[in-house]
Amino acid sequence: MFLKACNDCGIRVLSFQMDLIPIEEFIRHINFRDSSFCIAVIAIIFNPLFWNVVARWEHRTRGLSRCFGSPYLACCSLGLVIILLNVLRSHSMTVVMKTQARWEPMERTEVFYFGISLMVLGTLLVVSSFLALGFTGTFLGDYFGLLMDEKVTGFPFNLTENPMYWGSTANYLGLALIGASPVGLVLTAVVALAYKVAIRFEGQFVPELRSRETKCCFFLGCG
Ligand SMILES: *[C@@H]1O[C@H](CO)[C@@H](O)[C@H](O)[C@H]1NC(C)=O
Repeated sequence: MFLKACNDCGIRVLSFQMDLIPIEEFIRHINFRDSSFCIAVIAIIFNPLFWNVVARWEHRTRGLSRCFGSPYLACCSLGLVIILLNVLRSHSMTVVMKTQARWEPMERTEVFYFGISLMVLGTLLVVSSFLALGFTGTFLGDYFGLLMDEKVTGFPFNLTENPMYWGSTANYLGLALIGASPVGLVLTAVVALAYKVAIRFEGQFVPELRSRETKCCFFLGCG
């Protein structure tokens, strides 16, 4: 109604449509009903949900530690399961990107190299935070009572509080750009959203007593 009332309505409607075309074109290159797309979305949402629920349950009941006979072994086992789940998630995302359409406007050298740099940056963030935290620190050790001596504040934790999550998101974004894949961009957005929710959820967890004594006690079996 508003557009009809104005003089240059033809031009406005035209420019409005032209703005819409890329988005429509973009959406048209994505098959949301594809079963492998649904599997990838489920994998993306399931992963952080799984490790947070299991880690909280362990923290409340010490069920895994009892089952494995030691918190260290329990944490390492959960870590291996998380790695496996992440490999499955990456695999299901790659399958969708490979089977669904590419989008011509994204098939540019600049986009390709931007994707490569994002993957280099993402890998740097993930690897450096793993090295800074160690295996148990990376895989939710504090829920198992395996506390670090002090909060890690060096690189890459001086850049962002969650370098692992943002590094992983950057990797997927890079992969989507390299593959000129609209569905890859959508899946990356789902990853970012799932991590954002996980970060909020994990932020509520404050490990009790960040002390050396607790850690020694756990290792010596006197806890
Ligand atoms: C983070 O730490 C690294 C290594 O200690 C340092 O080179 C870098 O400048 C720091 N970055 C920021 C934003 O403080």
